[in-house]
Amino acid sequence: MMSEKIIESLKTEFIKTFGDGDMRLFFAPGRVNMIGEHTDYNGGHVFPCALTLGTYGVIRKREDDKLKFTSLNIQAGKVYESSLPDLKYEKEDDWTNYAKGVFWAYLRKGCKIDKGADIMISGNIPAGSGLSSSASLEVLIGLMIRELYGFDNIDMVDVALLGQKAESEFVGMNCGIMDQFASAMGKEGQAIFLDTSTLEYDYAPLELKDAHIVITNSNVKHELASSEYNTRRNECREALKDIQAVEPEFKTLGEMTNEDFERLKGSIKEENVMRRARHAVGENIRAIDAVEALKANDIEKFGRLMNASHVSLRDDYEVSCPELDYLASLAWETEGVIGSRMTGGGFGGCTVSIIKNDAIDGYKKKVSEKYKEKYGLDAEFYVIDPGEGAHEIK
Ligand code: GLA
Repeated sequence: MMSEKIIESLKTEFIKTFGDGDMRLFFAPGRVNMIGEHTDYNGGHVFPCALTLGTYGVIRKREDDKLKFTSLNIQAGKVYESSLPDLKYEKEDDWTNYAKGVFWAYLRKGCKIDKGADIMISGNIPAGSGLSSSASLEVLIGLMIRELYGFDNIDMVDVALLGQKAESEFVGMNCGIMDQFASAMGKEGQAIFLDTSTLEYDYAPLELKDAHIVITNSNVKHELASSEYNTRRNECREALKDIQAVEPEFKTLGEMTNEDFERLKGSIKEENVMRRARHAVGENIRAIDAVEALKANDIEKFGRLMNASHVSLRDDYEVSCPELDYLASLAWETEGVIGSRMTGGGFGGCTVSIIKNDAIDGYKKKVSEKYKEKYGLDAEFYVIDPGEGAHEIK
């Protein structure tokens, strides 16, 4: 849905549900990661950009300590209620757990929030697509809280960190910082080169000459993602422990070069754990090299690194799935595709590709047909430009 339409219906429906009066409107985007996958909890680099798709929300402060949440597109019409002194994860609270988690994270940080709020949201990120609808919701709520309750000491990086805290400690998906960071800090036309070990970051224009970023949604919902994600995190921790038994100076896998890894991989006891670590180390180096290539205007090299990233996620990290592998291989064999890989946590969701403008239509046609034929599923395509990070809409 177009953003103007969403904004209009949010305003009207908010008044219908919560009555007339002041209201403030905010937006936080989803993200797509270009390269540097499963590196953000290993002290490595990531290179995501914000989308123009995301979550919109309207908020108004209440006089009591209640929080009321409703959405126009998930369980539309249902109003979820909780109260500030009593915030806990409840399965039946569904998506509002992410929002409650952000209030909880603020309170945990020592921010004083004694009045509740009425909140209505509406998003246009396809559910389960791996384009970070949950991070966009967290960052949306985080920014709303900051603005509504006047926490001037909280900056946008803090908003991202509070969202990550909500997701890992309140919801229980032990994620890294990439998604929330991209949603909070995104910039139009730019991707963010983030060092997750220091949170130092740099913007790099995604100037792709005569090409565009195309996201292809496999429409396989990434349901395994949460449990397998936490397993991968533990495997990486295990690999690091084995390495540290030999060379204790390595504090993260992200500090290692490929040569370090080759020297030390024999110390990793389990074979599959060794492969997880090989991905984490190699992917971080690929992300660094890819950004350098982009800055040097070598888009072809960027594309080759994207392809290598997919292979490593498929074979070593084992977070892809047959549908994503098929989409990537269709892309690789298509004239005009510069690079293509799965993006995000994996087990479904999307691929991201860089495709020459004059080849995009042909790619879409071919992939829709072949994908439907093989899996009986409709692939969806989004040709995107990097969007702005979370902001208030005045
Ligand atoms: C999910 C997590 C991120 C990141 C990616 C994989 O999106 O939320 O923190 O780890 O997976 O790169």
